[in-house]
Amino acid sequence: MDFGLKNRLSRIIKPRTGKTVMLAVDHGYFQGPTTGLRDLKKTVSPLLSNADCLFITRGMVRTSIDPRSDVAVCLRVSGGPSILGELSNEDITTSMEEALRLNAAGVGMSIFVGSKNEDRTIANLGRLVNEAERYGMPVLAVTAVGKEMGRDARYLGLACRMAAEIGAHFVKTYYCKDFYKVVEGCPVPVVMAGGKKIPEREALEMTANAIKEGASGVDMGRNIFQSDNPVGMIRAVRAIVHKGASVHDAFEIYSKR
Ligand code: R5P
Repeated sequence: MDFGLKNRLSRIIKPRTGKTVMLAVDHGYFQGPTTGLRDLKKTVSPLLSNADCLFITRGMVRTSIDPRSDVAVCLRVSGGPSILGELSNEDITTSMEEALRLNAAGVGMSIFVGSKNEDRTIANLGRLVNEAERYGMPVLAVTAVGKEMGRDARYLGLACRMAAEIGAHFVKTYYCKDFYKVVEGCPVPVVMAGGKKIPEREALEMTANAIKEGASGVDMGRNIFQSDNPVGMIRAVRAIVHKGASVHDAFEIYSKR
């Protein structure tokens, strides 16, 4: 791995623990002003110091993030359809030049394995990796799950492995039963997306299980910013990811106001 690529990736996945707490706030790129992110700046500002990296679109970086913050930025560079359309109909929306201008530490896009446009999203990933490697920019592949797709280890394992084979430098996917099988079959770091909001203790249990089963951290959104205590929740997640805290201790951290 070239210096630039490795150096950028180290801003996301921290070498000290080999793990990352990414805060996903890109949901508006197809969902609009979703619950908790209507005012992204207000939501994210108090969370920044506990996040290693933001997963975010360029429009929200420009309008809502303090450029003096030292949080790493992983830029979502795919988009197209809204929640009203065919979600797999994505294309690359943000150039590598823009990612460099915004001092991004990585770029990310979704692949839709098993969906209508799976082949196009995989080809887009290949093109993005080709371009990103020219500039030492790590690529995160997000294994999006279409409405009718399962979330089992077989499906997510297939999607993660395909992403790695095409050249993604790290992969984001959902937690599932036998998650370790997904990690085992994927030669690049796997970070766990949180998915829909669930009770805090369950989200912390899911995080702890993912870490035990080999995840390199989380890229979590709704279970943090839709929590009744987002700062407590990100601190609790951080304690599990970077310090191996128990669910009990993490829940205590979340509960502190
Ligand atoms: C979804 O397409 C987005 O990429 C989110 O970044 C991802 O789902 C993680 O956020 P959450 O933890 O809310 O699922």
